[in-house]
Amino acid sequence: MERAAPIAERVLGIESSCDEMAAAVLRSGRHVLSNVVFSQDEVHAPYGGVVPELASRDHARVVSAVAEAALAEAGVGLDDLDGIAVTAGPGLVGSLLVGLSFAKALAYRAGCPLVAVHHLAGHLAAAELADPGLAAPYLGLVVSGGHTALYRVEADVEPLLLGQTLDDAVGEAFDKVAKLLGLGFPGGPAVSRAGGLGNCRAVDFPRPMAKKSGLDFSYSGLKTAVALEVKRRGGAEAMSETDVADVAASFEAAAVESLLVRARRALRQEGLRQIAVVGGVAANRRLREELETAGDRDGFGVSFPPPELCTDNAVMIAAAGARLLGRGESDGLELSAFSRVPVGQTPWRGGSP
Ligand code: KG4
Ligand code: ZN
Repeated sequence: MERAAPIAERVLGIESSCDEMAAAVLRSGRHVLSNVVFSQDEVHAPYGGVVPELASRDHARVVSAVAEAALAEAGVGLDDLDGIAVTAGPGLVGSLLVGLSFAKALAYRAGCPLVAVHHLAGHLAAAELADPGLAAPYLGLVVSGGHTALYRVEADVEPLLLGQTLDDAVGEAFDKVAKLLGLGFPGGPAVSRAGGLGNCRAVDFPRPMAKKSGLDFSYSGLKTAVALEVKRRGGAEAMSETDVADVAASFEAAAVESLLVRARRALRQEGLRQIAVVGGVAANRRLREELETAGDRDGFGVSFPPPELCTDNAVMIAAAGARLLGRGESDGLELSAFSRVPVGQTPWRGGSP
């Protein structure tokens, strides 16, 4: 019988890489004892995007209460913890440092090991936690406000990057299009809701990188095409609700199609039969439906974590951290945050940043 990989027992995860402060307790790498997420949507809504300075200030305001709530909800004291896992990058440095400094102080006080987790490795760990049928090797598609990337995921090694966006992330494109259409922040759910009422063939937006081979993505051209279309119609204020819905639906169709084309190409190229989609944009209904239809037709498995594990959370950090701690890995209190870190590199453990 195959032996299960060693896993740390009770792990507190802390995530603060962008505009969510989150803490969670996980038992045996599988059982979610608590999952607390404090979102800053209201802080950033007036600006139509995340303001880094405001994000770190608000994190500092709530970090202690969020961690306390996660421990209380789990019924776990500091002395019961077998480890603390914290996001060290990539992300906004000011935001990361709040969670990181707090995690260091807690680990010192609790006398337990501290381990740094790569934010995207965390997103992928959420997919495995949510779907026990998901087994390496598989294709990981990370789609969020900061990332659009494809990874080959193998057991017990860091995921291998196959392709990524050359400019904007797909979630960022959703957020910018929402702003252009006057739909508010965060943009993804708003564009998706509006688009649900529109005609996705109303505007023939360019399919990003349609004629390019390879597995990289690009969203700045599509974003510019939407901006020109909105301008041509006299701006969001001059557009009817139907016009807004049609543009939103047409943008969503183009954005999703480019994800689909590259995901299928990567599955073929790598000889993989399963894909897991993680990150905030994995909550998108159109993406879910189209990928599931393609999977049924072409015979590959599709795994989406539930929405609360798709967007930033600390369960995913605890899950990735429990494995690292189980393998005997940990980091010292000199640990620092990194805004950019390719998956597979661990600058906080002496590698190159
Ligand atoms: O993973 P996440 O919570 O934070 C980052 O690490 O970026 O992702 C947030 C992103 C935002 O850009 C948001 O607009 C997008 O995910 N998003 C969506 C949907 N829900 C969230 N995009 C498209 N459709 C959705 N339903
Ligand atoms: Zn994320």
